[in-house]
Amino acid sequence: MNKQLLTLLVALSASCAWAGGEETFQQVCATCHAQGDKGSPKIGDVRAWSKLIKEGQTNITADGYAGVRAMPARGNKPELSVAEFASAVVFMANQAGANWKEPDDAMLKKISARIDKRSAAKK
Ligand code: HEC
Repeated sequence: MNKQLLTLLVALSASCAWAGGEETFQQVCATCHAQGDKGSPKIGDVRAWSKLIKEGQTNITADGYAGVRAMPARGNKPELSVAEFASAVVFMANQAGANWKEPDDAMLKKISARIDKRSAAKK
């Protein structure tokens, strides 16, 4: 494969991953997180997000997906995959100054393990 084509592909896949997170945010999460409804951390609110960013990507992605306090599991969209949900979290965190990347397979495994643990604890 020539180098230019490769560069183009890398750029495309990077922008697609990003658009995925933003799209999920707009379609699912914005209902609450656009305005900070119900006490949710508002998108772009550096103060509200800095604590969560410190908690770490694995933890808050898993907790949000499983549901935590007033945050409904999967943002009330049951068909959302862990990867899709994680992209939306990356999008929101980065709007508040984080520099998170789409989780790789190893991180997705850790996130899933924590979701299982949390879901089991709730039963
Ligand atoms: C019905 C409203 C609502 C929707 C829809 C919603 N959230 Fe939330 N979210 C909340 C609230 C409220 C909190 C704060 C929970 C708390 O700490 O009490 C929260 C907290 C979070 C947190 C922090 C979790 C933690 O560990 O404290 C993350 C991450 C998150 N939301 C991600 C998302 C994503 C991604 C979506 C869309 C896929 C989404 N939310 C959709 C209301 C919502």
